[in-house]
Amino acid sequence: MAYLINGGKRLKGEIAVYGAKNCALALLGASVLTNDDIVLHNCPDISDVSNMILLLQMMGMTVRRIGDTVTVSGTLTSTCAPKSVATLLRGSALILGSTVAKYHQIALPLPGGCAIGARPMDIHLSGLKALGVEVLDAGEMVSCKGVPVGAEYKLRFASVGATENLLCACVLAKGESILSNCATEPEVVALEQMLVQMGAKIEGIGSPILKIVGVDRLHGAEFTVIPDRIVAATYLAAAAATLGEIAVTNCCPQHFAAFSELLCSRFSVRIFSDTVCINAVKNPDGYGTITTAPYPLFPTDMQSIVLSLAACSDGKTVICENLFENRLEHNALQLSKMGAQVTVKDNIATVFGRKLYSASVCAADLRGGAGLIIAALAAEGQSVVDGVEHINRGYVDFAGMLDSIGAEITVV
Ligand code: EPZ
Repeated sequence: MAYLINGGKRLKGEIAVYGAKNCALALLGASVLTNDDIVLHNCPDISDVSNMILLLQMMGMTVRRIGDTVTVSGTLTSTCAPKSVATLLRGSALILGSTVAKYHQIALPLPGGCAIGARPMDIHLSGLKALGVEVLDAGEMVSCKGVPVGAEYKLRFASVGATENLLCACVLAKGESILSNCATEPEVVALEQMLVQMGAKIEGIGSPILKIVGVDRLHGAEFTVIPDRIVAATYLAAAAATLGEIAVTNCCPQHFAAFSELLCSRFSVRIFSDTVCINAVKNPDGYGTITTAPYPLFPTDMQSIVLSLAACSDGKTVICENLFENRLEHNALQLSKMGAQVTVKDNIATVFGRKLYSASVCAADLRGGAGLIIAALAAEGQSVVDGVEHINRGYVDFAGMLDSIGAEITVV
């Protein structure tokens, strides 16, 4: 599937953000922890979420979607995750901690690496071992068995997924656990808040140190998925790239402050409680030096998008990608087809911005695809962006949404 993009159009108008993919996936994973209903509002209708729902259904849960509300009920009838679905998305790994906590066993095909890196799960598995869970890691499949017992565990890196899985493993564990060097992304905080609503005993919400006292059971909850900070930032980047003027509504500005600060230093940006307005009048002379890091610093998920902004700016930008070992090369190569001056050495990209021209490019991953689309929106003429099935994993009707603020995108 591809997008035909008539670039060079200034984006103008108002666009609303929907629920965050990475929040919905974590909350769906945690729904395994209770036999009661988990009701999730503002749940985005994207393929990663549909596949996560399919995974839960194939393992026995009842899952119903009415509009943006997804209700999960029932129990697992199997703790073997079917390979056919589990390998469709990385988010499937987020049933690991909750299934071990509730059912004391799981057989999970590991989603394996993807375009942006090897994405091992050593922190998830060593954390479960620290909780006394038996882990058999057979490469493509991991089997766990045992009842988690409270323990102290320090994550060697503030991994988002490992924090989410280990937190879910601790909430029903016997005794008290202390997890340190935890991720503090907004999606992780939302999971902590829902677990507390379900009856979990968690101290240190939002901090890197979580103290959990295990309980016997958790009850249902009704929770609203937080707005997608990366989608909000992507829309703002599209306006910046086309020297447009848009208002992004239904968002949580403080969740993407690192990116907004970058835009504020170069464009006229107004920030309200749930809306950010940008009026991009002049192309900036580069974006300085950008270094990706865990929240609240600059998010790796915005790296390929800011790479495109840099490529079509009027100056120099240096981007250092510290989280994923292969999240620069592919887009640098694709952007060079549009005339971009990007050189990548190890995990650093040096960009000398210039006017881009239209070309045929191909997306290899979700956020990389968004970055290429943003570059195509900036380039004069008709570009083709192939591989946009990656886009549908995390963006609702991306082409239609951008068309609603003045883009000219045809899906072929
Ligand atoms: C989550 O992935 C997000 N996905 C990613 O978003 C996001 O890029 C990432 O966090 C970082 O913010 C979901 O939430 C579903 P990590 P996750 O564990 O949990 C290494 C998107 O486009 N690592 O924080 O997999 C890992 O290889 C996606 O929405 C280990 O080495 O990220 C990576 O280099 C892309 N061992 C780094 O840590 C482990 O056991 C960050 O990974 C775990 C992670």
